[in-house]
Amino acid sequence: MNPYDFEEEALASAVAAATGAPAPEPWAETRVVGARLPRVDAYDRVSGTAVYASDVSLPGMLHAAVVRCPHAHARVTRVDVTKAERLPGVRAVLTASSAGADVGWYAGPNGPLSKLFDPHCRFAGEEVAAVAADTPYWAQDAARAIEVQYEVLPFAVDLDAAQAPGAAPVLGESNLAGEPRVVERGDLAAGFAAADVVVEGEYSTATELHVPIEPHGCVARWDGPRLTVWDSLQGVFPAQATLARALRLPLARVRVIGPYMGGGFGAKLDTGKYGVIAALLAQKTGRPVRLFMTREETMLAIGNRPGVRMTVKVGARKDGTLTALDFSCVGSGGAYSTGGTGGVDWQALDLYRCPNVRARSTNVFVHLGPERPFRAPGHPQGAWGLEQALDDLAIKLKMDPVALRLRNLTEVSQARPNQPRYTSTGLRECLVEGARAFGWTEARAKGPGTGPVRRGVGMAGGMWRGGGGGPPCTIIVRLFADGSANVNMGASDLGTGTKTWAAMIVAEELGIAVDRVSIEHADTGTTQYTGPSGGSKTVPTEAPAIRAAVVDVKRQVIELAAAQLKVDAATLALKDGAVVGGAEPLPLARVQALGQRGVLVGVGVRTADTHGLAVNPFGAHFAEVEVNTRTGEVKVLRYVAAQDSGRVMNRLTYDNQVFGGITQGVGLALTEERVADAAHRGRVLNANLHDYKVPTALDAVPAPVCLPIDPKDTVCNSTGAKGLGEPALIPSAAAVANAVAHALGRRVAHSPITPARVLTALSAPARKSEARS
Ligand code: MOS
Repeated sequence: MNPYDFEEEALASAVAAATGAPAPEPWAETRVVGARLPRVDAYDRVSGTAVYASDVSLPGMLHAAVVRCPHAHARVTRVDVTKAERLPGVRAVLTASSAGADVGWYAGPNGPLSKLFDPHCRFAGEEVAAVAADTPYWAQDAARAIEVQYEVLPFAVDLDAAQAPGAAPVLGESNLAGEPRVVERGDLAAGFAAADVVVEGEYSTATELHVPIEPHGCVARWDGPRLTVWDSLQGVFPAQATLARALRLPLARVRVIGPYMGGGFGAKLDTGKYGVIAALLAQKTGRPVRLFMTREETMLAIGNRPGVRMTVKVGARKDGTLTALDFSCVGSGGAYSTGGTGGVDWQALDLYRCPNVRARSTNVFVHLGPERPFRAPGHPQGAWGLEQALDDLAIKLKMDPVALRLRNLTEVSQARPNQPRYTSTGLRECLVEGARAFGWTEARAKGPGTGPVRRGVGMAGGMWRGGGGGPPCTIIVRLFADGSANVNMGASDLGTGTKTWAAMIVAEELGIAVDRVSIEHADTGTTQYTGPSGGSKTVPTEAPAIRAAVVDVKRQVIELAAAQLKVDAATLALKDGAVVGGAEPLPLARVQALGQRGVLVGVGVRTADTHGLAVNPFGAHFAEVEVNTRTGEVKVLRYVAAQDSGRVMNRLTYDNQVFGGITQGVGLALTEERVADAAHRGRVLNANLHDYKVPTALDAVPAPVCLPIDPKDTVCNSTGAKGLGEPALIPSAAAVANAVAHALGRRVAHSPITPARVLTALSAPARKSEARS
């Protein structure tokens, strides 16, 4: 199953109110939370002392390499390892017939769709065998010396070819990955009949690859019957479960450690085949095994953001009120995933008020690597379609794009069956304040100019369907005898600043300095269970549990101090490292019972939300671009991102998240595209950092502005914070595309907006609906 679970409401009810303790009251004012503080691990990260999974080096450690199928579709008919086994330094070879290797992989509706080493390979890059040797180079040499015979089969790697009659089947007879999903409300025909203006357009996005700076991989070591794995992960607990299942071990004998990781974007919610392969090779050799994938391997086999083709038809009254919205999309999750268009329809279904909506999503299997959740799965693609269609509508209505969106706001989540209200929505403020900060009205009125270099401004709105957080999560906070504290949490910090705001919450509640708080996290052996850090749920899941744990410790220390001072506990509080409210401040280190015990332990659990409302983050982005009509180059000059993610936990890491979202959106809009060779061999042609164009520092927008909009949500959870990581990406590519359309007076509706596409668009006559506003 896709490890990413969108249905957080269902999850929430599973672990309802485990402690029975009421959640702490919302903060009235904060001293530490919300400040612009550098990361607690900043020095370790920039000095190189932080130990990432890829840095782990153990005595006697072997290095592994994987043999991968070079064909888009093939059957393995023979694997001969004799030559490889005879090479120097080779300690073990693993194939489909090796002990323990019969492991199912890629869950389908009726069980696994494939195996760890499946003789039927359905994409170029699929795992066939593996080897462990004394050095990484010997391992690579040995992998090349394994002789594999393939029966090469016909393939289909593009959407049309895969759906054509007689297409090479990926799984089963039809390449349709399940029935198309249709979600409908109201009366679409009546809605279009009531419209004064209707626009219809086609928009599409290219497939993007996750490019975490640290590739996927791990080091596996057995100590007798117990397995320890250091892995670069967003979720150590899912990895523990995956390894235990694959190796048929109890959870208690599998320890997964992943304190530092170099990015994930959703591709590291769980371990991969590499984790099981490393563990099996380590078992076979009795030595630790390191298996890290090369950049090319990660680009072939660890996931992608599916490219999606969309048709969007929107109807509205003269005043801009939406009357009907027909949204359909087709995409592919690759070889084994039905998740190709998951999440794409959410913007159309929920973001703007519209009574008559139909969303149709079709997934197709192709012979390429399977998708994996990628920062707001489906949402940036859906925004690319919807937000460009709304701009086309605005042009036809001769209406300002911001005004059009302001006309169609809603306080209820229309996509959810019972249409609950949101606990808060700052979308209006994001649009209004963002436009003001950007200088939208003046910039839009200025127009693109007439020279060879045109200017354009564009904007887009967006929301994330998750970001509310919920169970499970257990946290332990310990207060030591000297008044310093430790927070113990299972969550990973994928570079977003998780550790920093965790320490800030403890400092806030205990009235101690942030540098008096240490952190233990992301270790199934020593920290407490939580879901993976993903879905923009880490703050709204972990933070209320941390608060609950630290409030528990605070109550205990105040009670001990009250007994010592012989005063009523209700008169005491914690401030500047002391218990205050008595005759004079009592430093925590002088609370006698604390000194005698050595530690006070507080436990916090993220309880289920009982408000029955929808919790969602929102945003509105504004971009100014320059398009060179002679070269087709697009430069993003100026950017304002207004985000409602509830309370700002740390202003510095908040800004950082948003800048990252903008940059990734610029990549989606302008440069990123996985290219597969559909005509010849069905292989990915640009699985390297030279040909797959991730924005670099030189492509990033200079001096972007992040504008937090805090709607002071006291209902969503005890911290008032909603998710930020994914929302910060959702509108960005669409905002850039709308700015380019404004500059050119015509639309490049397909991502990425390359110079070639810009020049092609300029050479075509402008459509009527694309005429400059
Ligand atoms: Mo995210 S795509 O849940 O890391």
